[in-house]
Amino acid sequence: MNHKLELANVTVKSIVILISGHGSNMRALLEADLPCRVAAVISNQADAPGLEIAKQHGISTRIVAHLNHPDRESFDSELALCIDSYQPDLIVLAGFMRILTAQFVTRYQNKLINIHPSLLPAYSGLHTHARALQDGVKIHGCTVHFVTSDIDQGPIIIQAAVSVHMDDTPATLAARVLQQEHRIFPQAIRWFCNGDISLSAGGKVLMKGLEQPGSALISPEME
Ligand code: GRF
Repeated sequence: MNHKLELANVTVKSIVILISGHGSNMRALLEADLPCRVAAVISNQADAPGLEIAKQHGISTRIVAHLNHPDRESFDSELALCIDSYQPDLIVLAGFMRILTAQFVTRYQNKLINIHPSLLPAYSGLHTHARALQDGVKIHGCTVHFVTSDIDQGPIIIQAAVSVHMDDTPATLAARVLQQEHRIFPQAIRWFCNGDISLSAGGKVLMKGLEQPGSALISPEME
């Protein structure tokens, strides 16, 4: 079956969203009126609350349970089969908490986008907010990037920064960062679907005709 939608000679891009948990980023994408079709939401966790949200939005859901597989290679193969059945232009990792094999990442080179709760390349990996607080950084944030086999180190599309407050806990900081994740993730997908971003030979994201406003976030405030 051809899952691409042809509208007056314009092919609407289709995306598949991968989740593992709450799915608040997925929800932000579903509610953002993106210029693409969300073909399916796939979860590696059968009880991910995000699956119910996807269903409420009328999106097909699939479960590919990593626990049914002896190793990453086998899980990634089934995941790829499931993804390929939708022929997506883009695969979006929205809180998908599995490390993907290099083989999987290569298969979807330049078609795989992730959101990460830190200002990469700082704080790749887990527990980003607690580690940022531990280090006493004054500015923290989130990043949307293309996925490469270097975990959390692929070409950066967009970032948002927030001030770190003196009384922040990992939970309060995470909540403030998450609000910004919900803003920048739809923007990155919109740019991709509209053909506004590309990759340079050196592996950097190039933006077509976008102005850089040059504003600064200074934290704490200066006197
Ligand atoms: C987000 O902070 C995302 O950046 C990280 O996991 C969290 C997922 O949240 N990878 P949700 O499932 O989108 O609500």
